[in-house]
Amino acid sequence: MDLFDKVSHTAGKHSPLEEEIRKLPIPVSSVFIGKDGKIRPAAFRETEMTLTGKNRDRTADIFPRTSSKNRDIVLEAISDDEPGKIKGKRVAVLFSGGPAAGGHNVLAGLSAALGSDNALIGIRRGPKGLIKGDLFEIHKEDIKSIINIGGFDFLGTDRTKIKSPDQFEKVRQTVVNNKLDGLVVVGGDDSNTNSAFIAEYLEAAGIACSVIGIPKTIDGDMSAGKHLPISFGFDTATKIFSELVGNLNQDAASAVKYYHFVKLMGRTASKITLEVALQTKPSIALISEEIAEKSMSLDSIVDYIVKVITERRIKGINHGVILVPEGLIEFIPEMSRLIIELNKTLADFEKDISDLPSLENKREFLLPRLTPESAQLIASLPPDIQEMLILDRDDHGNVKVSQIETEKLLIEKIRYRISEMKRHTERFFGDGEGKIAATPEQVEDFKKVTLSTQSHFLGYEGRSSKPTRFDATFTFQLGLAAGSLVLAGKTGYMAAVTDFHKGGRVLGLPLAGMITVETRKGKEEFVIEKSLVDLGSASFKIFAQNRDKWANYDFFSSPGAIQYWGPTSKQVPIIVALDQDYPDFATFDMGVEKTMVDL
Ligand code: FBP
Repeated sequence: MDLFDKVSHTAGKHSPLEEEIRKLPIPVSSVFIGKDGKIRPAAFRETEMTLTGKNRDRTADIFPRTSSKNRDIVLEAISDDEPGKIKGKRVAVLFSGGPAAGGHNVLAGLSAALGSDNALIGIRRGPKGLIKGDLFEIHKEDIKSIINIGGFDFLGTDRTKIKSPDQFEKVRQTVVNNKLDGLVVVGGDDSNTNSAFIAEYLEAAGIACSVIGIPKTIDGDMSAGKHLPISFGFDTATKIFSELVGNLNQDAASAVKYYHFVKLMGRTASKITLEVALQTKPSIALISEEIAEKSMSLDSIVDYIVKVITERRIKGINHGVILVPEGLIEFIPEMSRLIIELNKTLADFEKDISDLPSLENKREFLLPRLTPESAQLIASLPPDIQEMLILDRDDHGNVKVSQIETEKLLIEKIRYRISEMKRHTERFFGDGEGKIAATPEQVEDFKKVTLSTQSHFLGYEGRSSKPTRFDATFTFQLGLAAGSLVLAGKTGYMAAVTDFHKGGRVLGLPLAGMITVETRKGKEEFVIEKSLVDLGSASFKIFAQNRDKWANYDFFSSPGAIQYWGPTSKQVPIIVALDQDYPDFATFDMGVEKTMVDL
């Protein structure tokens, strides 16, 4: 094949790297390996561990069948000494929500668990496809082409929430019409909440179909402590973001003229920002959970950043990298109050407001209907942010918080504050409380330097990459676990893996036990609680202990691109290693490597 042919033959995901990555062996936990060395489904035993959400009595009323059947008990996978040959089962799988690296290896794991005597069925475009009954059979050849390859494109995904009685009935019809014995839902907290409800609904309808959830989301907030330290996709996304942030650290220190403000995905939790901060040691990383805990106002966040920038400038450093979590705005108490008031007022006066021709008219209508504090706050925001808050609504009529360019909002406020400092140096520099210590020469120097900024948003580029070795392995085990749970006839569980540093312990977590009652948008809802950054955790403490050092000097790291071979290819997320008390984050151990031939 000449070079010309070779280049055209790399189309359709056949680049040299993709070809090699498909062949990579995957470690497999011993519970899935038979005496003949072949992969096979595991059996499950009950453990001493239970999972019980808040308001247990109320959730037991909502999930009477699955609750009494599973009794909140955590299951553990064990080798099946006498594997009964289960045949003829039909198991369907769907992806739900945003993509996360490793989804295709879930399918590979499921296919390996089901073997050739049972059928794996794909559901196109997520929950919407489940409702419509858009299903197709997945073959071994398909698995060979997608194994270790990123994205959710083989099945597609969507964000439909299954809530109405009509939707549940349609799901039941799809299950019955396609004679499904199992339904595996790959998703985050909302999708796994959906799985709990579907499991209960099918039980109530007397349909023997196992419903099993799989924890997915780059945000890392679908986790359950020691039972499930993290969701899949987090490791890959944070390694990609860490490479890019590391490069920006390096560039900032090289060009010595820019502050890079980087907003990082994570709709609610700041886990991504915390992990990227621990990987790259930037000048500043904001953690939303801490901001809420300390009730920090927008102005006090601006003060903090300006202080760091000014003190660095006094030391002659006029560049740096500042990480901003995507969900920050909702954790700032006064912003969160404003958003709640806006959502309500816009809903109450929907018609009146939509009839008003300009943003200015809408603003004039809205402001007197907000509390004075919120009216003052919105008026103080830059016009484009006001516009996003007032005009940009999601399907439910709420502010699209994740679209708000928080990094740009901060930049604008910081610029204004610095210009104020230049004009009124006596108010900001000196010995008094809250003032910055500086000599007259340093103050004069401060007045001469301008603040040059660049803003970035890192999110989508981290969701569909080829999975890291960690995510490729984790997802394969999750697929094996889910397939095994279905074959064992279990329903209403989430497949989980823990102890990534010593063989990988495979668990089944009772979904009903994970549900709690939360007030969302003023209404009580039964949901799986998002797992946020715990300010008492080892990972947050290490960050908090070190951040001043990273703020005061260029003390960054640049961890580089994801490695698929070699000494750094088997790292686990730093927050997992710290919070689970592993001795190191350098290598995971999830079993014995199996090659594609074994699969
Ligand atoms: P999931 O929780 O569904 O995995 O999605 C997480 C996420 O990537 C968030 O970080 C982000 O806010 C959101 O998806 C963006 O969603 P969309 O794809 O709808 O723009």
